Formats: sequence, C-alpha cells, structure tokens
Amino acid sequence: MNYQLSKENILNKKSDCLCLPLYKSEEDKDGKLCPQGQQIDAQLSQAISALIVQFNISGEIGKTHLLPITSDKTQRILFLGLGESEKLTKSVFRKAAKSLASTLKDTNIESLAVDLSKVELTDSQDAEADTASEIVLAIEESNYAFDQFKSKKSTPSSLSGIIFHSDNTDIEASIKKAQALSTGMSFTKDLGNMPGNICTPIYLAEQSEELAKTSNKLSVKVLDEEELEKMGMGAFVSVAKGSIESGKLVVLEYKGADDANEAPHMLVGKGITFDTGGISLKPGPMMDEMKYDMCGAASVLGTLKAITQLEPKINLVCLLACAENMPAGHASKPGDIVTTMSGITVEIMNTDAEGRLVLCDTLSYAEQFKPASVVDIATLTGACIVALGDAASAVMGNNHDVVQGLLDAGKQAGDKAWELPLWDEYQEQIESPFADIQNIGGKGAGTITAACFLSRFTKDYPWAHLDVAGTAWISGGKNKGATGRPVPLLLNYLLSKASK
Ligand code: BES
Ligand code: MN
Ligand code: ZN
Repeated sequence: MNYQLSKENILNKKSDCLCLPLYKSEEDKDGKLCPQGQQIDAQLSQAISALIVQFNISGEIGKTHLLPITSDKTQRILFLGLGESEKLTKSVFRKAAKSLASTLKDTNIESLAVDLSKVELTDSQDAEADTASEIVLAIEESNYAFDQFKSKKSTPSSLSGIIFHSDNTDIEASIKKAQALSTGMSFTKDLGNMPGNICTPIYLAEQSEELAKTSNKLSVKVLDEEELEKMGMGAFVSVAKGSIESGKLVVLEYKGADDANEAPHMLVGKGITFDTGGISLKPGPMMDEMKYDMCGAASVLGTLKAITQLEPKINLVCLLACAENMPAGHASKPGDIVTTMSGITVEIMNTDAEGRLVLCDTLSYAEQFKPASVVDIATLTGACIVALGDAASAVMGNNHDVVQGLLDAGKQAGDKAWELPLWDEYQEQIESPFADIQNIGGKGAGTITAACFLSRFTKDYPWAHLDVAGTAWISGGKNKGATGRPVPLLLNYLLSKASK
C-alpha cells in the first residue's frame, strides 16, 4: 500500500474517490460536515450537502455511503460517519476506520483521497497524526490474510494508495510508525497462526535468524537444549525434554543507542509452540488453539521487526523461550523436583503450568545483561481470560515505573493492559512441602500466583509480566486467529524509552 501526503487542495488532485468525514447532528437527522468538508461543498456548489439530504446520510459511527459526484478530478465520494463530534474519541475513530477499510475492500477503488486535517479527537493532542495512523492500521489489518494453506487464496483488495491531504508534515512520521507497527503485527499473526507441526522451536529460531539478516543493528544467537542443560536450566529442560523437538533459547540483540554500552531494555517471550499440558494432559476440545501458546515470543519478534524498521535509539535484548510441551516417556511427571538456574528448586505439581518453568530460567539468564527493564510476555494462564477477557492484558511487576510505563503505552496504543495486585498475601500459595516452591498455586487468583512464581526469579532488575492469554488471539468461530497484540503496546513502550 502506498501512503502519500499532499499539500494540495483535495479537489485539485486526481483520485478514484474522496473520503469525507461526517458527524451526527443532535438536532438534525442529516449529518454535519466538518469545516474541511464545508469548504469542499462550497467549491462544488453545495453538491455534497444536497447528497446528504437526498440520501438521508446521518453520520452514524462507522456508517459509510459511496456515491457519485461530478468534479474534474474524481467521480465518487465516500461519506464516513464519525458520530457526534463532541464524543469523538480515538477508539470511536478506530471503529470508523475499520468500517472504512471493510467498505473499501468491496469496491474497485484504487486510490482514495482523505482530508482529516480538521477532525478533532477529544482524547488526543495530535488528532491529525492519530487519525492518519488509525486509517493506516485499519487498511493494513483488513488486508491481512493467513491463506498459505488454502488452495483458493483470498482476493487482494483493489486499493493501492491513500493520499492524506494536509499541511502538517508531522503526520508523515505517524504514518511511517503505523506502517512499521502493521508489518510487525502481521509477522506476529503469521507466527501465531502457523500450525504447530511447522512452527516448532527450530522454526522460531530460524525466523529469528532471518529477521537478524535484515538489520545490521541486530544479532542473534540460538542456544539448544544441551547448552541449556549445561547452564543448569533444570526447569526449562524439564519441559523441553518431553518432546522430540529440541528446546531453544533465542537471544536477539538490537543495538540502536548512541552508547553501545547503555543498559538494554529486555523483552522475554513464552514460546511454547504447542501446549498439550504434558502428563497433566489438557482436555480435547479446543486444544488446537494451544498452537497459540508461542504468541508471547511471536509478539516479541513482531515488535523487534517494527523496531528494525524505525531504528530508534535504544538498546534492546530479546529472549525467546521455545519448547513444545508433550506427554512422553521423557516427560516430567507431577511431583518431580527440578533445580533452576538460580538454584531455587521447584516441585512440578502440574506439568501444564509449563510456561513459568521455561520462563523462570530465561529470566535468570536475563540478569547478565544488567537490564534497565525486563518485560516478559506470555499466554500464561486461563485464569487471565476469566479475569479480563479479551479487553486487556494483565500486568504485574516489581517496579512501579515499568508497570505504569506499560499501562500508559497500552492506553495510548488502544491495546490496553490492566494491573492485578502482586501482593505478598498471594506468595504463600506457591510454597511446597518438598522443594523451595511449587509451580502452581491454589484455586484462586491463578494469574497472580503465576506472576508470584516468576517474581522469585526477577529480584535483581526492574521487571513486569504481561499475561496475554485473553488478548493474543481470537478463540473459536470463523474469526479465529492471532490478533497481533500486544505489539502496539510493546512498541509504544520501547519508543517511549528511546532517546530522541
Ligand atoms: N498456555 C496455558 C494457558 C492458557 C490456557 C492460555 C488456555 C490460553 C487459553 C498454560 O500453559 C496453562 O496451561 N496454564 C494452566 C495453569 C494451571 C495448571 C495452574 C491453566 O491456566 O489452566
Ligand atoms: Mn500449559
Ligand atoms: Zn502454556
């Protein structure tokens, strides 16, 4: 898709169609044009307001109307309803942008001209940048298809370009960021949607190596199961050894800061390429969705892909904890006790609580980088879906700034997170009669006790944990698929830490 910025009047540049935002009016059943729209209307001798009346176009949120007009440079006009102007927030605009994108898919429009320079959002300092970004994200999202295993591919959209009419060149940076974010999210979705027989730990390692080839600021190292064993990662290996697929710890280093020695920020992703539950086998229904149990690692790779396009001044180290959780002769059994890299011993009470086992050793490994902050991302608990559904990822941590930074970044990106309390009261649930700790808590607060477990391994640096079990993919039904979340949150977080 080609995105262009033009300072010309929208009626002076050729395009297949003009997109005009329309507000809903409280007193009038006909929609209201924005100041920019009124200007265009005047230039076309009120032809546009005539259409609004003739076709009862009301400006309802997300309602679109495609109509012919007579002008030198274009033949069609697409009204986009934005609802009441006083209630127009970023999230309302996002809804409208999605509907615009889906309308465009069913047309033969190749080039669309938009002028959003006078559209205000109640919750944005820079509405023009935000609206442009939402349009790019919505168009790219609507063009995403995971059809590589389908004999019949989905038909590509006719749209090939959008021209943003504006005097404000700042929106160029916002468009570029939205494009990088979209590319990162598509990568995350592809990895997530990829079936478990193809997307194995080795596959994630290879994808990491391919990504590293695309940037001279990025390097990669892959540690295999033997090396993990040698480093004393007894918890990580206890999961990986149940599968014929070898476990992998992928280490990716992006050096973008002016000072190569600046303390890095770190992302750590859970990369369970399939979670059967192990000997504590999961029930059959919907088990296919456990191919998504590597979405934490996929979101790290997607974020990193966006970072390599934007090249912010930051040092970043990413760790992917990759393994397949299988029941087998070599698999761990409930009651087994393992020694982690940190020396802490763990009684494995449930082999289905495997994410924390691969993550705890990976989080210990992170210490050597003396990080400025560490964020781990994991589809860690079903309990998280019970608590927050798909509206927000859960966040918990040992450092206020990191937690708040993630909450703010998520809010800004429209990819929300919500904090759960990591209070000491919950810690006793993971005490074990036979080892230092056990890998599950009791009946309640499963998302928190999982974070309690991780907190035992992150005492030496500022850390937060994101549970994305409810947000990383859409479950069941015909909309089933990876969402690309929480890449928007993570990218915003890292960009907020980068120097200018
Ligand atoms: N990957 C799952 C969590 C999960 C389940 C995410 C369903 C999304 C949908 C994780 O490894 C797991 O199995 N967790 C257990 C923990 C329990 C054994 C303490 C769970 O949530 O049931
Ligand atoms: Mn599990
Ligand atoms: Zn899992």
